[in-house]
Amino acid sequence: MLEVIRQRRSVRTFLKRDVEKERLNDVLKAAMFSPTARGLRPWDFIIVTDDKTKTQLSRATPYASFAKDAPLVIVICYDASKGKRFKEDCSICAENIYLEATNQGLGTCFIQIADGTEANEGNPEDFVKRLLAIPGNYRVQCLMPIGYPLKQPGPHKDEEFEEGKVHYGRF
Ligand SMILES: Cc1cc2nc3c(=O)[nH]c(=O)nc-3n(C[C@H](O)[C@H](O)[C@H](O)COP(=O)(O)O)c2cc1C
Repeated sequence: MLEVIRQRRSVRTFLKRDVEKERLNDVLKAAMFSPTARGLRPWDFIIVTDDKTKTQLSRATPYASFAKDAPLVIVICYDASKGKRFKEDCSICAENIYLEATNQGLGTCFIQIADGTEANEGNPEDFVKRLLAIPGNYRVQCLMPIGYPLKQPGPHKDEEFEEGKVHYGRF
């Protein structure tokens, strides 16, 4: 497991190659096997493959431009009316997507949806909700473009393990 975690990097360039349905399903399975507060499983996943919609998504924030180049984008959203810890649940679920994508030879990247552009009046979440007809009571967690990496960033290195960040007993 540590090897997959080590290899997991944010991938922002993709080959022009479709992701097989079985691989996508395994990635979504990993997402839905995530732990959730009180076992509430608040998520919904929107799979976007349409070029025009991906281009729109890539304009949601200044840091999302590469979303249009992936064969598909998973949009993670959740029903905010049903509980309180859904942001945490969906963050963990995004990490499971990262890890299973890596395990499948795919790449992905978490794209936050909080800091917008002038074009969407600084509110990328509402922009994405309108674009994808997401119900009003839902929040959007993030966008995760997925595909086969064109450039795979190198793995994490042992030097990133900082012993000084670990405190035993008290700070
Ligand atoms: C909460 C969160 C928000 C992020 N938002 C973006 C984003 O909007 N655009 C982007 O290109 N990368 C985004 N990233 C990816 C980070 O830039 C990346 O994880 C970080 O640079 C470390 O690199 P690594 O994932 O390859 O280990 C985000 C990551 C997290 C956890």
